[in-house]
Amino acid sequence: MSSRYTANHLTRWIFALGCVVWWGAPAVAQRTDVNYDESKVPAYTLPDPLICLDGQPVKDAETWFAKRRPEILSLFQTYVYGKAPGRPAEMRFEVTSVEPKALEGKAIRKEVTIHFTQSADGPAMHLLIYIPNGVARPVPLFMGLNFYGNHSIHPDPGITLSQAWMRPSPDYGIVDNRATEASRGTASRRWPVELILSRGYALATCYYGDIDPDFHDGFKNGVHPLFYKPGQTQPAPDEWATIGAWAWGLSRAMDYFETDPDLDAKRVAVMGHSRLGKTALWAGAQDERFAIVISNNSGCGGAALSRRRFGETLRHINRGFPHWFCENFKQFIDREDELPVDQHMLIALIAPRPVYIASAEEDLWADPRGEFLAAKAAAPVYRLLGTEGLPADEMPGLDQPVHGQIAYHIRRGKHDVTTYDWEQYLAFADKHFGKSQ
Ligand code: GCU
Repeated sequence: MSSRYTANHLTRWIFALGCVVWWGAPAVAQRTDVNYDESKVPAYTLPDPLICLDGQPVKDAETWFAKRRPEILSLFQTYVYGKAPGRPAEMRFEVTSVEPKALEGKAIRKEVTIHFTQSADGPAMHLLIYIPNGVARPVPLFMGLNFYGNHSIHPDPGITLSQAWMRPSPDYGIVDNRATEASRGTASRRWPVELILSRGYALATCYYGDIDPDFHDGFKNGVHPLFYKPGQTQPAPDEWATIGAWAWGLSRAMDYFETDPDLDAKRVAVMGHSRLGKTALWAGAQDERFAIVISNNSGCGGAALSRRRFGETLRHINRGFPHWFCENFKQFIDREDELPVDQHMLIALIAPRPVYIASAEEDLWADPRGEFLAAKAAAPVYRLLGTEGLPADEMPGLDQPVHGQIAYHIRRGKHDVTTYDWEQYLAFADKHFGKSQ
């Protein structure tokens, strides 16, 4: 287990680089190998989501679900995120704490450990769930992975402090790669818990590093080794990497929701920001139990079209974060046009379920226009399946959300999750879950 928590120097160096890219728009803007000029976007042709590999046009829902959707899913598994295993046979749930009157009585707070093996110290993920009191059961919910531990999303002292390895960050109270008491509530700005509860939704979250720590150790830590065949030491080129593992974890959380009578597993909105936005899209694309999928500033490898090569490209992402995507994806560095898919097809896999793509004006690294164009290019599939698609031909103005079966907004400001974003997601969930405000 010690390798699970030990980052070697190379890994730390990659991290430092990643953090510069992640936090530092100015640092990125100084790079000479990034295109932020719309006039320099190359001409490109997107693969048509409604034409099968053998040339057959998709004219009805049956052909979509029986033939084209499985084909696209398999292309993403083989070339982008990798194939993931299913639910482990030995998996079990342990409710580790219940506080019926948390947050001044506003909510039940539950903590649930999902053990992936029978062993008590085997790999596990720890869910934190707030369920509003005084609301009819079962309750619809938002599920999102978090970056700094469950205790970071709210100062509530009853939340168990994560013991897991974390990226260094003084701002989040992380010392020697471990959370401290000073970490409590440090990410609460991104998680308006009381607002979500007041609107009649539960909120479930889990630290993403429980599933696979976010650094490249050759897939020795995290959940991957649980599934190695005898003699296997790392995933095959078409097998899951780290985003695939995080998405897999979201499905394991869904497995738990299906067993909890307080929660409505048929009304789960999966939401994620940035690398976790890519993860939410991939989880929602594969696992049709997620009723709504929300991508916040997910960018390259998420909602943004790779072929535009605007902002982050396949070269940047695969070199900066070599553990996120399957090995096969690296073949397409500087060869985006040869990829048999682009990210509009990832959104199309979610059809006809509601999907929300959100961008931020200053987040050029994530290519807001590329995110809008992907949403638009997924719309024909939504329309084929009898829904309205995206009710916008042109990119809407700042802070002017468009909510169809596909929703899109670009808000003022930078790469972040804001209360404004959450207000849109709540309104979108109200609309699709048939709740009145
Ligand atoms: C980096 C990375 C992005 C990612 C982001 C994040 O900026 O290049 O692809 O979305 O980190 O997860 O915050």
